[in-house]
Amino acid sequence: MRRSALRLSIAFCSTVALLAGCHAATGAKAPSPAGGAANKVAAKPAAVTPANIAMGDSLFNTGGCFNCHGKGGVGAANAPALDGKKWLQLTTGSFDEIVALIVAGVPVEKIKDPTHKRAMGARGGRMALTDPQIQAVAAYVYTLTHK
Ligand code: HEC
Repeated sequence: MRRSALRLSIAFCSTVALLAGCHAATGAKAPSPAGGAANKVAAKPAAVTPANIAMGDSLFNTGGCFNCHGKGGVGAANAPALDGKKWLQLTTGSFDEIVALIVAGVPVEKIKDPTHKRAMGARGGRMALTDPQIQAVAAYVYTLTHK
């Protein structure tokens, strides 16, 4: 877990390195010329773009997710924090896993923490998210654990 988080952050770093001189700052080993893209697990997902993150932020924090997960995904009575400290449904917190969870939702019988009383609807329930909106909201959720 820790190791993969490190690899993810190195991958992320390599993508911003051009702008910020990131590896020099972190002392991380220089990634291969292809950067994180050489390693599919560590690569920053292609859908995690500034435009998608911005759209996802708006969908999450004004569209409905925040009603259960709190603004910024900090957690609230009906749903857990999305900070990755202790995933209840996800295992790695990968982008694909986040997408799959949003598509499927969490039916009551799959809820792990009994203090969470309400099912998470498939595709955000009433939000009825389209595939591009799911990519966007997943990109936003992904950034909560991949700064
Ligand atoms: C009606 C309340 C509700 C809404 C609205 C809701 N969720 Fe959830 N969400 C839950 C519950 C309940 C769980 C599972 C918690 C448990 O197992 O105890 C969950 C789990 C998750 C998880 C996995 C967290 C983990 O610990 O593994 C993610 C990611 C997530 N939701 C994202 C979203 C996003 C994105 C939206 C908006 C599209 C959303 N949720 C809207 C209730 C909600």
